[in-house]
Order: sequence, then structure tokens, then C-alpha cells
Amino acid sequence: MRKIVIANSKGGVAKTTTSVNLGAGLARRGHPTLLIDLDTQGHIARSLGIEPHVTLATVVEEEIPPQEAMIQARPNLYILAGGRELAGTKRLIARRDLGSEMALYEALAPLDSQFEFVLLDTAPSWDVLNINALFYANEILVPVSLEVLALHGVADFIASVKVVQRYNPNVQLRYILPTFLDLRVAKSNEILEQLQGHFNGLVLPPIRYSVRLSEAPGFGQSIFEYAPGSRGALDYEELVERIEKG
Ligand SMILES: Nc1ncnc2c1ncn2[C@@H]1O[C@H](COP(=O)(O)OP(=O)(O)O)[C@@H](O)[C@H]1O
Ligand SMILES: [Mg+2]
Repeated sequence: MRKIVIANSKGGVAKTTTSVNLGAGLARRGHPTLLIDLDTQGHIARSLGIEPHVTLATVVEEEIPPQEAMIQARPNLYILAGGRELAGTKRLIARRDLGSEMALYEALAPLDSQFEFVLLDTAPSWDVLNINALFYANEILVPVSLEVLALHGVADFIASVKVVQRYNPNVQLRYILPTFLDLRVAKSNEILEQLQGHFNGLVLPPIRYSVRLSEAPGFGQSIFEYAPGSRGALDYEELVERIEKG
């Protein structure tokens, strides 16, 4: 079971878009996939057209098996929804005397090997749930927007990851995903080259800017449902194939 956390302490870099479409793409290719939303905004469920009646908060707080809170979104695709209740979950975890970084790991332990992929979408912060995600996952994928001063934020984030790695050597920075590539903007290519210079083998083929990608969540659909054949669908399909290969 590959456990991949999609993280970057910056907001608006396409963490949620990537989680949803990577998850949907892997599921479409036959891989049982679980998508976990660690954000109080709860965008994962809505992006897939689901109104969750139960969330991850219940799993952690009431210690019920995660299977009881999973919602099937598509064939092979299940979600553990996020949302406002996670604010309370964070406070609860933070109050633990011991092992607060392992709360998610313990809550999700009953899942083992039921899925091929577990993807964790995180909030744009360095909060207790995100730290928990890094203690649960094996792989980290960092989306980086090519529209903004990307490198600063990434460097800070990676420094924090290195601290976690001292305690959880099993989690590895595997992928840097450039997002919002706009070929008309020279800066976009410049930042892409900087990323490649810095992270070399970790940098995935970029996701181009695509209006379709921003429209799809409003229809509760993945890009493969909403606009198959669009730029966004092609780019995310390529991402899915790369992640599938490992
Ligand atoms: N490649 C893209 N082209 C155009 N819009 C995008 C693209 N990727 C994401 N978006 C849009 O940008 C906004 C931020 O993306 P989101 O995935 O929510 O970022 P994050 O989860 O990192 O905060 C959303 O409105 C999303 O629909
Ligand atoms: Mg998000």
C-alpha cells in the first residue's frame, strides 16, 4: 500500500486539485484508492459531488474503524471526508500527553493493504494533522505553482520535512509537481528551470494552466469526467501513469 501525502505549506498551489484528479485517475485505471481530506475546508468531498454524512473527525475522535466512515465516490475510489469538524480533532490530538504525532497512524492502522494507494490532501499550514500525515505516509508529493515566487516556500517546507524525517525515516520526498504552467509567461518557464536545477530527478512533467481544471469541482466531477481530452485531463493522465510506475 503506497501512502502519498500531497503537501506544501502554501495555499492555492493545486494540492486539492492534484489529490482529486490523481485519485480519480488511479481508480479509473483499476487501483483501489483512498483519498483522505485533512483540510477543514472539506473540498475533497464537494469536488467529487458528495455531501458527507460522516468524516475523518469521527474516526479519530470516536475511535471507530475507518471503514465505517469511508464513502465510496466512484468505482475503486473511496474518501474519508474532511471539513470543519477537523478543527476539534486537531485540538483533541494536540491535547494528548504522548504520541500526538501518531494519532492518525493509529486511527488508520485497520486499513492495511486494503488499498493500493492512500492519498492525503493537506491544509496549507504546518498543523498537527499535517505533521500526523507525515508520520503516516511513506511518500511526499509537493505541488509547486509556477505562477508565484515558488522556491522560497518550498525550501522552508522541505526544511520542516527534514525535521520530521529524523523521527520517521520511512517518509521520503519523492515528487515535485510543477503546476499552473503558462507557456505564454516567460517567468513560468524560468521557475520551472529553477525547480529542475534544484530538485533534478524529483520534478514531474508540469500541469499546465487549464480553466477546465478550475471548473470541474463546481460540477462535482474529476477532470476525466468533466472534460476528457482537455489539457488538464491529459496532464493529469500523464501524472497518474508516472505515479503508477512508482
Ligand atoms: N492547472 C490549473 N489551471 C487552472 N486552475 C487550476 C489549476 N489547478 C488548480 N486550479 C484552481 O486553482 C485554485 C486552487 O487550487 P487548489 O487545488 O484548491 O489548491 P490548494 O489545495 O493547494 O489550496 C482552485 O480554484 C483550482 O480549481
Ligand atoms: Mg486544498
